[in-house]
Amino acid sequence: MCGIVGAVAERDVSKILMEGLRRLEYRGYDSAGLAVLEGNGLHRLRVAGKVNDLADSLKQSPLKGTTGIAHTRWATHGKPSVENAHPHICKDQIAIVHNGIIENYESLKQAQIANGHAFQSETDTEVVVNQIYDSFSDTGNLLEAVFAATDKLDGAYALGIISPSEPGRLIAARRGSPLVIGIGIGEHFIASDVLALLSVTQKFIFLADGDIADITCDGVVIYDENRKVVKRPVSISELSHDVAGKSGYRHYMLKEIFEQPRAVHDTLAGAFNNGRIDETVFGQKAGKLFDRVKAIKIVACGTSYHAGLVARYWAESIANIPCDVEIASEFRYRKSVVHPDTLFVTISQSGETADTLAALQLARHSGFAASLAICNVPESSLTRESDLVFLTRAGAEIGVASTKAFTTQLVALLMLVTVLGRRLGMTSETEAAIVGQLQQLPGRINSALELDGKINLLSKQFINKHHALYLGRGLLLPIAMEGALKLKEISYIHAEAYAAGELKHGPLALVDEDMPVFAVVANNELLEKIKSNLQEVKARGGRLYVLTDTGVQLEKDDDIQVLKVAHVEDSIAPIVFTVPLQLIAYHIAVFKGADVDQPRNLAKSVTVE
Ligand code: M6R
Repeated sequence: MCGIVGAVAERDVSKILMEGLRRLEYRGYDSAGLAVLEGNGLHRLRVAGKVNDLADSLKQSPLKGTTGIAHTRWATHGKPSVENAHPHICKDQIAIVHNGIIENYESLKQAQIANGHAFQSETDTEVVVNQIYDSFSDTGNLLEAVFAATDKLDGAYALGIISPSEPGRLIAARRGSPLVIGIGIGEHFIASDVLALLSVTQKFIFLADGDIADITCDGVVIYDENRKVVKRPVSISELSHDVAGKSGYRHYMLKEIFEQPRAVHDTLAGAFNNGRIDETVFGQKAGKLFDRVKAIKIVACGTSYHAGLVARYWAESIANIPCDVEIASEFRYRKSVVHPDTLFVTISQSGETADTLAALQLARHSGFAASLAICNVPESSLTRESDLVFLTRAGAEIGVASTKAFTTQLVALLMLVTVLGRRLGMTSETEAAIVGQLQQLPGRINSALELDGKINLLSKQFINKHHALYLGRGLLLPIAMEGALKLKEISYIHAEAYAAGELKHGPLALVDEDMPVFAVVANNELLEKIKSNLQEVKARGGRLYVLTDTGVQLEKDDDIQVLKVAHVEDSIAPIVFTVPLQLIAYHIAVFKGADVDQPRNLAKSVTVE
């Protein structure tokens, strides 16, 4: 999604803005631009392309200034083009960058055209810059103009605003879309997330919804949604400034896949006390709130939704607690029946996913017992608005395809169902077994990573494939779904996952010698069932690729290629089996020459609906 950077300093800010844009590239974008104030002049450069293209353009026509804003645009209204790229400018007086969607832009546009504005782009953003310009003409004060203009906007926005009439002033506004302020010494910054600014500061203020900030070299004054001055806490980021490096790996995604043993280890750190899970890892109030809980409702999107689906199997089989899982964009627009003893759980890597956030906001007024966010980003909107928080410690995830965030979400969810199950009759032996398995998990993931070489060789076979089926049963069905999502998002091969038992109810019609079928097979009570499903595929000439563990014996068969992970216990099997599926998607995408870390049309942080 769109990325914003802004700076006000006594030195040239163009390099800071460009470095910030590079650090935001992972979010996904299709055009880029920046504008700076030099004396009373406003200068802008935009490209329909990548930040590197903008850098080339800057070499041709250097821009320097002490106040500036910059942007990477992920197209929503209007195609990727120079005209639609940000910053947008009105009459050389106001320049803005925007992340979000203005829902009433059509009516504002009609009114502005009637007032004599000529539109230069197809974006919704242009109505914002015009609105600020009109208010600025009335008030003569940039801050007052932003107050007045934002009162007229419906929808979501994070904005950075500058004007040559007020050099040395940067106004930031936030509603619905994320925005942070970076605090320097005698210089200040804004950005869509902290990663963008780690090369210039570790100190951040997270704006609350409705906040507007007046930023100069001398300080930052924040106004809340009632336009009252407020103090927001300053946080020190623990992330190091080279967090966005690839550490020698060819892609962020590969680095992040290989970081999983560490990420899981860190997520488990401090979680156990005398062989039991310490429930305060979910927050100090967790014990009291969990005492009430008799059911779980999980809401999330994409990969995080798949984590929720695994949790449903765990919750009902291990902890005897009813669990319902729903896609956030569906939940938020549907009337649902709420049982008051239900824990509302959101799962999100970024903590800024617009649909998940809206679902949480709805849930807070719907009578749930409490809300819990499982999230990888401290101080994200989701964590700030939830009663309880479990922070996964995957570390910054840069690749658009979520990998280590997913496996650490699963770790958090297994711990959650265990502490809830305790209250509903789960034995201490079961809990001790789960704790033991979680402690083994980093090692088990390391063994799964050893399949990398084999998977690399195997993946060449898929370069010319256009479709793939993924099959799983029980706990491994959501893992098959996740494997299919990974493949389609980074290799652009159409992939679907099915419960293996559903094959004969339709998808079997697709199976022929051109259709690769990946099956994820656990060594559990469903083994014989899924073996029969594999025979159904084989009988139709399908190419089978079976991912299983060393405990499973399959008849030798030249038509079936088998990948085996070392023995893995049933409860942690979904986490371990995820890893080879990530590697399969990764290597196929690399062979196909796809942009693995920034797949087309996708964004890392989906901050608009
Ligand atoms: O940040 P979130 O976990 O809320 O994001 C949800 C989805 O957008 C995300 O998981 C998406 O599906 C990933 N690209 C999957 O790899």
